[in-house]
Amino acid sequence: MTQPLTIAIDGPVGAGKSTISDEVARRLGILHLDTGAMYRAAGLAAGAAGVSPDDEAAVTQAVLASDIAVAYENGLQVTLLNGQDVSSAIRTQEAGRLASAVSRFPGVRRQMVALQQRLAQTTPMLLDGRDIGTVVLKDAPVKIYLTATAEARAERRMKQLEEKGEHPSFEEILKEVNARDYQDMHRETDPLRQAEDAVMVDSSALSFEETVEAILAIVKDKTGVSGRA
Ligand code: DC
Repeated sequence: MTQPLTIAIDGPVGAGKSTISDEVARRLGILHLDTGAMYRAAGLAAGAAGVSPDDEAAVTQAVLASDIAVAYENGLQVTLLNGQDVSSAIRTQEAGRLASAVSRFPGVRRQMVALQQRLAQTTPMLLDGRDIGTVVLKDAPVKIYLTATAEARAERRMKQLEEKGEHPSFEEILKEVNARDYQDMHRETDPLRQAEDAVMVDSSALSFEETVEAILAIVKDKTGVSGRA
């Protein structure tokens, strides 16, 4: 059986992975799985269970006891926690912090990785996250490491949060970006790093469209598959 097309995009917080991945997947006519959304749902599960995000055993138990799933509506991902649509609830800063904290734990990661691999086995997909090229889809034919300077990422993050009605200062966001980078890159289990066979795309000086096109050019180069306009 031939494997369906899989594309792995990893990178630090605020590099634009989610929105860029949505557009690249749309132009390729494949689904986009935002794996960060699943860790955010896991964070919400731990929060709802009232356990401390530092209590590995309690967090792992709370996450294993909850049902985290994704569905697609009109090609777009809906993230479900115990059957409830949490796609909006997971988009707060607090949910991001909880996600980063609970994603340190191997028991949590095992559950998420298994689900991601199951989904990508049967359906052509683009997955974005922190460990897709290094752990989840080690054999993906296309691996991208999408990054930008911490300042550029903080700037974008601030705009996103403002659209959601939150108004943190730039310094606060930059501090948060650096703290999340540190936590994601220094955790023991599957830290964020560029896979040896991943191509780096630095979007600091690129527009949204330029970044999408740079990634589509890499996809074309590696697989011969072209995206539509
Ligand atoms: O991409 P994001 O901000 O939605 O991700 C939230 C957190 O989830 C992030 O701090 C690290 C974690 N994460 C992970 O460990 N592995 C992934 N594949 C995706 C996200």
